Amino acid sequence: MDYKSYFDIPDNITYLNTPGNGLMPRAHHAWRRVWEMEFFDVTGDIRDQQPAFIAQVKREFGALFNCSTEQVYLTPNFSFAMYTLLDGLPSGLKYAILEEDYPSLNFPVISRQLDYVKIKVGHQVEEHIQYTIRNQHIDVLLLSVVQYINGLMIDLNFIKKLKAEFPDLIIIGDATQYLGTEPLNFKDSGFDAIGGSGYKWMMAGFGNGYMMVSDQLQAILYQKAQAGPRPHEAMWSSKSILDTFFEPGHQDTLSHGTLLRSLNFMQTHGLDHIQTYLIELRAYAYGQFDERGWLLPEIRGRNVRSSLVNLQIDPKNYDLLLANGIKCFPRGTGIRIGLHVYNTQQDVDKLIEVIEKINR
Ligand SMILES: Cc1ncc(COP(=O)(O)O)c(C=O)c1O
Repeated sequence: MDYKSYFDIPDNITYLNTPGNGLMPRAHHAWRRVWEMEFFDVTGDIRDQQPAFIAQVKREFGALFNCSTEQVYLTPNFSFAMYTLLDGLPSGLKYAILEEDYPSLNFPVISRQLDYVKIKVGHQVEEHIQYTIRNQHIDVLLLSVVQYINGLMIDLNFIKKLKAEFPDLIIIGDATQYLGTEPLNFKDSGFDAIGGSGYKWMMAGFGNGYMMVSDQLQAILYQKAQAGPRPHEAMWSSKSILDTFFEPGHQDTLSHGTLLRSLNFMQTHGLDHIQTYLIELRAYAYGQFDERGWLLPEIRGRNVRSSLVNLQIDPKNYDLLLANGIKCFPRGTGIRIGLHVYNTQQDVDKLIEVIEKINR
């Protein structure tokens, strides 16, 4: 499938910076221009239909990732959703977080002075997690599905098994570097909550985020507030108590509407087909990178591979890569790249050609 034809990428640019921010299909840009005009057209009335519009985005989100409309909250970004979730959990819980995970996951746990342990991330991260959960009486596990620096992807079958072994463990995931690359069935995933920002692999631009929360977890969030009265005001009459925490105030229909365009794109093309395309592209890329010794040791031997790769080439090469049209980013000990539907084997070849030219 020629997914690239849906995007406007000039010939002299090799766009590999999806882990930073993803591209939007051309049709998204066209929709945003029209929406902006129609939305603020004085003679029109779509400004008055914001709640119905947001409800539609939730329905389509739920349909794609198998969660009910009541289980998904739409937020401005991942961090807002994550902080809201964390602040709603009962006190006295013990947390496990991963070393060097994204700051919006780890820092709120640290700054709120919650009781936590840090799990080492390495080649055998799942074993480390299992050992910690078995031995340290952990109540809540927080992790990113794909680690933002080294690209390590947690085995999602492991999450299902972990949940089966510890049904009371609350597992909260960050899907920002993952959702949009393959199908996800929330109800079956083992996660009690999983959320993210839409501007990377969901290709939906800034200003939109999502958090799916299971019924069991919803029942224990903001318990005192949930035991109290619902809002009496007419304008909030359809809001649940949890809506008033996750979705207070008016939401931006341009941002969430862009997320809806992405949901439609993924529905039309099929996340299963997108997954197949990316598996093939990754197999090619990882093979080429491995031959050249560019993969991190903790990534090399793993069967589960993400679309985010930290290439072990000197980050000092960043400016030269940019000068050659390679959009990427220095992170950790290397240069971070991402491979999404608008990337091809030619992009991988071009990247290798430029790195080898620079290092000659
Ligand atoms: C793992 C991960 N989670 C979340 C985010 C983004 O969260 P936010 O948009 O709230 O900053 C990023 C962005 O780099 C990320 O890498």
